[in-house]
Amino acid sequence: MPSTRVPKIAATDITPERFFLNRRSFIAAAAGSLALGPPGASRAAALEASASKFTLDEALTPEKDATTYNNFYEFGTGKGDPAANSANFKPAPWTMKIDGLVGKPREFGLEELLAFPLEERIYRMRCVEAWSMVIPWVGFPLAALLDKVEPLGSAKYVAFETVVRPEEMPGQSGYFQPLEWPYREGLRLDEARHPLTILSVGLYGKTLPNQNGAPIRLVVPWKYGFKGIKSIVRISLTETPPPCTWNLAGPNEYGFYANVNPDVDHPRWSQATENRIGEGGFFGANRRDTLPFNGYAEEVASLYAGMDLRANF
Ligand code: MTE
Repeated sequence: MPSTRVPKIAATDITPERFFLNRRSFIAAAAGSLALGPPGASRAAALEASASKFTLDEALTPEKDATTYNNFYEFGTGKGDPAANSANFKPAPWTMKIDGLVGKPREFGLEELLAFPLEERIYRMRCVEAWSMVIPWVGFPLAALLDKVEPLGSAKYVAFETVVRPEEMPGQSGYFQPLEWPYREGLRLDEARHPLTILSVGLYGKTLPNQNGAPIRLVVPWKYGFKGIKSIVRISLTETPPPCTWNLAGPNEYGFYANVNPDVDHPRWSQATENRIGEGGFFGANRRDTLPFNGYAEEVASLYAGMDLRANF
């Protein structure tokens, strides 16, 4: 079915391949398709999205890999655990609270979040574990949401929190707790407002599967994947850098910025190359060079002008 929404970008701004990639995921959503069905992997509903100029023309990671090779410790620490253990998680109904240093603190219901104009954006994603994927996200700029709550002049950072539901998230209820809950992340306000930073509600043209962070998660493509906090229930604007889960767990290994940087190694492994998931050959010839800022330097390097990126890793 053709999209009922006209792409917001002139056709002249995108290459034919890019346009083709985008067209493939244009799925007209009848109003009813946003009424989410029962929880579990089968609940994915079609999402209507327009093309975005912030999109790549690299081969997409197979959807099966993107939805079965995950990090979501609330469902277990194995890559297959999130897909295997998240069927009882209920992503609807959902509310996300925005508070802190804003003029208009408020809650957003899921229907309101899905009503933001959605775009499909094909982003290169780089995990700190030195693997990468190319994902067609569906989402909207975080800046659009922040505008609605009117950040105060004193706001300098944005803090995010994941839901805590041990009854639905087995990784939060077992004897071994790998992390402190809630999972927390943070960005500088200018990073949060950058046009590449999105809140995602879907991938491959459908609503997010539970294992990928349903119903709403952060995507910041120039940073390591752990910054992409999932299943967000709270966003707070703050004056000082907020605590971040992996930074708290291992401050020498995971910095606040976490910008993809092939020149700054993790203390236990190199960050110079990466394995593109789905291409085979985990340790072999298929490794490719990691790009500064994950290939988004042109867009974002100026955010860090004058900063020592070794000290601010
Ligand atoms: N968010 C929460 N709440 N819990 C997590 O364990 N893992 C992070 C990030 N967001 C994580 C999370 C890490 S380490 C990565 S690499 C990405 O999610 C993985 O996202 P994906 O499974 O959609 O590829």
